[in-house]
Amino acid sequence: MTLQQNREFEEFSNDVAMCLASKNKYLSPKYLYDKVGSQLFEQICIQPEYYLTRTEASILSKCAPVISNLLGNNIHIIELGSGSSSKTAILLSHFSSQKKRIYYFPIDISSTILAESAQRLKSQFPKASIVGIASDYNMGIDRAAAECKVAEKEEEKKKNNNDDISYTKLVLFLGSSIGNFELIEARSLLRSVRQRLNASDFLLVGFDLQKDESVLNAAYNDKAGITAKFNLNLLARINRELGGNFELEKFEHYAFYNHDQHRMEMHLISKIDQQLYIGALGKTFSLKKGESIHTENSYKYSLNQIDALAEDCGFGIEKNFTDKKRWFNLALLSPS
Ligand code: AVI
Repeated sequence: MTLQQNREFEEFSNDVAMCLASKNKYLSPKYLYDKVGSQLFEQICIQPEYYLTRTEASILSKCAPVISNLLGNNIHIIELGSGSSSKTAILLSHFSSQKKRIYYFPIDISSTILAESAQRLKSQFPKASIVGIASDYNMGIDRAAAECKVAEKEEEKKKNNNDDISYTKLVLFLGSSIGNFELIEARSLLRSVRQRLNASDFLLVGFDLQKDESVLNAAYNDKAGITAKFNLNLLARINRELGGNFELEKFEHYAFYNHDQHRMEMHLISKIDQQLYIGALGKTFSLKKGESIHTENSYKYSLNQIDALAEDCGFGIEKNFTDKKRWFNLALLSPS
């Protein structure tokens, strides 16, 4: 095990121990994304009920020319949680057709996904420089900002007299990933991005908007049962990595809209009274029939809330790009 893997194992086992020992059992949604979980999430994104991905992609196709015009000829794109980078390819394709010089720094926790997507993008956009950063968001932003400086220095050395080598940074945080953050965490991340931007840089954030509850409930309870598998995989992951003895059929996926908090919640509900043994902890925990393990919050925003969040973090809204049904919003933010 590398030092990093060791740290991740410690963190996961401590969090599972704390979760199972507490009255209100909660595990961070980040644990949903092991290799199997990430593959299941890719499948969720193409379910007919899960409107988020395709709505955001269609907005991106429409807003790419507007964003492109705001950016200048040299762009440093930093993407938080890039995953397969499939939506980013929409922007890259537009920018490269406009003959822009592109540096792309995708940040993702999974080095495997980064390597796969970097390879695909390099063949699609041979002129772009692509440097993947395997890291969590906070360390990743620092490393990306440092990489941007290195790239700028190299361009400076190669420069001819009339070359324009001023760069605009565009930070991307797509897919409504911000919705999986508590407000306090969302603020902290946006503020930390803000600190690394210059006045002429931009941040593009994908927000899922508040809407009819039936649309939301359908999206998180797809008929094919992929979201249920994605949620239950968390227990399978505990079995695989921590030697747990969870029997998945003794749990039920439960997702519902919490009106007061404006969020979808995902839970795993115990169908019976049961005892659970986790080998790595050497401990047994009990769960009552009907008791829940809360696995995810997915906040749904209003345009006013987006405005307030941006302002709180030192940004103004340059432009909101929304679909016709007003289900999803891409907020282009600039330092205020
Ligand atoms: C990654 N994230 C934005 C997804 C969401 O909609 O909150 C994760 C997800 N959970 C259930 N389905 C999809």
